[in-house]
Amino acid sequence: VTTPIADYEGPRRAFDALLQPTCDRRILLLCGPSGTGKTRLLEHCLARKPPGVPLVPIDLRGSTTGVAEIFSRFCFALTWSLLTQFTARVAALEGGAATRIVVDRNWQLGFNNRISVVLHTGDEASRGQRSTELTDALFEDLARMTGPLLILFDTFEHAPSDVKDWLRGPFLARAAQTTTIRVVIAGQQIPDSKNIEWGHCCDLHNLRGVRDARHWLPVVRQMQRRIPTPPEETYMAAICDVLQGNPLAIMNWIEALEREESIA
Ligand SMILES: Nc1ncnc2c1ncn2[C@@H]1O[C@H](COP(=O)(O)OP(=O)(O)O)[C@@H](O)[C@H]1O
Ligand SMILES: [Mg+2]
Repeated sequence: VTTPIADYEGPRRAFDALLQPTCDRRILLLCGPSGTGKTRLLEHCLARKPPGVPLVPIDLRGSTTGVAEIFSRFCFALTWSLLTQFTARVAALEGGAATRIVVDRNWQLGFNNRISVVLHTGDEASRGQRSTELTDALFEDLARMTGPLLILFDTFEHAPSDVKDWLRGPFLARAAQTTTIRVVIAGQQIPDSKNIEWGHCCDLHNLRGVRDARHWLPVVRQMQRRIPTPPEETYMAAICDVLQGNPLAIMNWIEALEREESIA
């Protein structure tokens, strides 16, 4: 079952473009106030993602998602054999020499912790250096992938400030250089698209709700709701107007409508 969605034709097309073998605007930014449908849009698009395209979905809500956690999400979403540079770098920074240990299941299980220790050891300068080394290693691995890799970040505004800095700086700058990487960042606040390092390959969409009643009538039908007073479009237009096109509010309204009786 596909979740019903009203309009947002522009961002939906941008997402389709992201999944093509070649794509100029590889960084898609979705910006809008709460309830305008950013998360819904991500879900809708994910349901259309071909199964062969690897996905790294990261919700930045909650302050627990630090840079170390993001690194380990990549490792768990992708196969270990792909991340040879990254795992070798972690092992090296840990002081362990053997590259053999990276295939050790126990080493993998403690990986999140290992990355965390590596990123939080030493003074500020050396921590920054380590973070850069790991980021470079990760992108070396990602650059060897043959098909597109889709990376989603939702609720950017909730990310801790070090994660925000890392994303809008080192992460996106490298993503812009790596043609197989496709990134979507959604939030009430998003990285500034005028960035000189990656701004040229980003596509910004501001979500402002859906005010046009004609976009909602198919949703009403899909949800098998009955509009109490015809004409349908006039009724829906009044609702859209009163609720100022806010998708969350309009959707709540539609849900509260009576179900259509099935025709015998
Ligand atoms: N384009 C849309 N079409 C239909 N329903 C929508 C749309 N956008 C949002 N909604 C509804 O609004 C609710 C809130 O949207 P959500 O994606 O969580 O907003 P955001 O992530 O921007 O805060 C969703 O659960 C959904 O019911
Ligand atoms: Mg959301």
